[in-house]
Amino acid sequence: MNAKLKEIFKLPFKPYWALRKKLRTVYLPKKYWNDLHSSKDIDSLRRVGYKNRSEEENRAMYEKARQTFLGFCKECGVDFSASKVLEIGCGTGFYTDIIRSQGCRQYTGIDISRVTIKQLRKKYRGCKFKTLDAAQGKLREKFDVIVMIDVTQHIVGEKKFASAMKNIDQMLTTGGVFIVTSWLSEQIIQNRYYEVKRPLSCYKQAFPKYNFSKPEPFRDKYIFSIFKQS
Ligand SMILES: C[S@@+](CC[C@H](N)C(=O)[O-])C[C@H]1O[C@@H](n2cnc3c(N)ncnc32)[C@H](O)[C@@H]1O
Repeated sequence: MNAKLKEIFKLPFKPYWALRKKLRTVYLPKKYWNDLHSSKDIDSLRRVGYKNRSEEENRAMYEKARQTFLGFCKECGVDFSASKVLEIGCGTGFYTDIIRSQGCRQYTGIDISRVTIKQLRKKYRGCKFKTLDAAQGKLREKFDVIVMIDVTQHIVGEKKFASAMKNIDQMLTTGGVFIVTSWLSEQIIQNRYYEVKRPLSCYKQAFPKYNFSKPEPFRDKYIFSIFKQS
C-alpha cells in the first residue's frame, strides 16, 4: 500500500473532511493521469505542460522545447529514420509528431494512462501504443532509441525509479541511446506530492559504466543522453 495511505489509515479517528483533504494529496499515478487526460480538451497542451498557464503560453514553451529536442538529438547523432524508437510517457503525442516528422517508421509509445493511449491510437494509425507503467513493466522488444521527456519526475519513490530505469536498460539495444529530461538537484527532493527532483547521480547509479552526455538546459529542466556502449 502507498506509504501515505498507510499513514492515513493509522490515524486514531478519521473525520470525513480530514480524510478527503489527506487523500487529495496521495499520488495514485494511474488515477492522477487518467483524470488529467480525461478532463481537458484532447489537443490541449495544458494536460501535460503548465496547468496554470494559458494554452498559448504552453504552445510557445513547447515550440521552444521542439527546437531544443531536435538540436540535442542531432548533436547525439540520432537518426530517427533508421531507428526503432520507444517513447515513454507520450502524453498528448507532441513528441510522437516530432519523431514521425523525422522519418521514423518504427515508433512505439507507452503511457500509464489508458485514456491518452486510446486517443493516440486513433490519431496515429501507423504507430504502436500500449498502456504501461514504466516502473512496473517492460515490453519484450528492444529499441535503438528510448525517449522520456518530462516523465521521470512523476515516478515518485526511489524503488519505483530504480525499477523504471532497470526496465529501460533491459529494453535498450547495445549501442542504443536513452534520451531523458530531468531536474538536476543537489539531492532528492519531493517537490510536490506528484513530483520528485533528483540529482544526476541517481541516473549514474542506475546506468553504471554507460556514457553520459553533458546535460543541456531544457525548459525548466535538463536534457541528457545515456549511451549503452557495445
Ligand atoms: C508531464 S506529462 C509529459 C508528456 C510528454 N512526454 C510531453 O512532454 O509532452 C507526463 C506523461 O507521462 C505519463 N506517465 C506518468 N507516469 C508514468 C509512468 N510511470 N509510466 C508511463 N507513463 C507515465 C503521464 O500519463 C503523462 O502523459
